[in-house]
Amino acid sequence: MTLIDPNKIPKHVAIIMDGNGRWAKKRAINRLDGHKKGADAVREIVEASREIGVSWLTLYAFSEENWKRPKREINALMALLKRFLKSELDRMVKNGIRLQSIGRIEKLPKSTRDVLLKTIEETSANKGMVLTLALSYGGRQEIVDAVRRIVVSCDREKTSPDEISEQLVSGFLYTGGMPDPDLLIRTSGEYRVSNFLLWQIAYTEFYITPTLWPDFGKNEYLTAILDFQKRERRFGGREKCI
Ligand code: FPP
Repeated sequence: MTLIDPNKIPKHVAIIMDGNGRWAKKRAINRLDGHKKGADAVREIVEASREIGVSWLTLYAFSEENWKRPKREINALMALLKRFLKSELDRMVKNGIRLQSIGRIEKLPKSTRDVLLKTIEETSANKGMVLTLALSYGGRQEIVDAVRRIVVSCDREKTSPDEISEQLVSGFLYTGGMPDPDLLIRTSGEYRVSNFLLWQIAYTEFYITPTLWPDFGKNEYLTAILDFQKRERRFGGREKCI
């Protein structure tokens, strides 16, 4: 296998982790066990990202639409997230990983939110990699929330509409201050964006694999990075730039 080029590591990788349910179904086991196995894959990919020098890793862990799932599954996912955060705290601190979240986290159950906020606080000084969990996240909702805040701010600051730029809008998104993703990975073979980072993926490279999320390990992650490194990114222009 060709080695990945350490000078061309994507700065920001975003992942739509799909297929936990199908993974469980294929084995005739409970969906919840699919999610548990999915959490193990999260651990492996976070570790691999840190190892190869990705600076920003953003994972779609729970979408706004996921609230429509049966209560039992939602509760299990929330409990799993809580357990995951508790069990990973030491490792995050040791590996210099700073946790943050994007999304309407006020909708999360209090006990999950409390652990999330505590983990964010306890990793806030870490400088190695930023791990962003998209929780109760929807791209359209994010844009709506940004527009609301822009209107309030423009009114307060007496900003004229002409001064509203792409940069200003970006700054008001949940991801304000983060670079846009260079690479978006989607597992389980679906060719859609599912309301994830709609504004931010304007020039992002996509890697879509049929592999179900619980089976997505370090090897295939490196294959995705290698694939990314072979692409010529033009950002709509004609010059070669990465
Ligand atoms: C998709 O599987 C997965 C999710 C609902 C979100 C991702 C959740 C995890 C990886 C579990 C734990 C996460 C953390 C951060 C600890 P699906 O149920 O939609 O699969 P299906 O489409 O095959 O039914």
